[in-house]
Amino acid sequence: MRRVVCPGSFDPITNGHLDIIGRSARLYDEVTVAVLINVEKSSLFTVDERIDMLQTVTKEYPNVKVEKFHGLLVDFCRHNDIPAIVKGIRVVSDFDYELQMAQLNYRLSGVETLFMPTNPEYSFLSSSRVKEIARYGGDVSGLVPDLVHTLLVERLRS
Ligand code: PNS
Repeated sequence: MRRVVCPGSFDPITNGHLDIIGRSARLYDEVTVAVLINVEKSSLFTVDERIDMLQTVTKEYPNVKVEKFHGLLVDFCRHNDIPAIVKGIRVVSDFDYELQMAQLNYRLSGVETLFMPTNPEYSFLSSSRVKEIARYGGDVSGLVPDLVHTLLVERLRS
């Protein structure tokens, strides 16, 4: 069984994340989407809300499951017998940051990191930008799954 993890905050999931998850699901037998529980960072959606959204929008991939984790990602990998992490790379600055993280994670545990170039259609996309645009009434349809779009607009209206 070839397993991989796609980790992140997913606050909320964007079409860029979904593209990386879907492509990973075609390469691996099992993909675990791991949502970080980060008590230090305020978020728009709770971890459980994010998990619900992720489960719904990845329904078409039977080999994708969604979990939450706290602490070190490599500990989550060890506990779940996952030997590799997939990270999407949008721009060169992502690579600078992710390379250090990948090397540290390897040093800590031997867990490998594989970089997947983001679909150019989404190379400008991030959850924070989506939230900022939506907060000021901009149109984020096409940047996030339809369900997320609806929930985002509802949440920011309340
Ligand atoms: O979507 P994000 O916020 O960019 O995801 C970052 C994430 C969750 C992948 C990263 O912060 C992470 O792995 N955090 C867990 C703590 C950890 O293992 N840190 C790495 C030390 S080298």
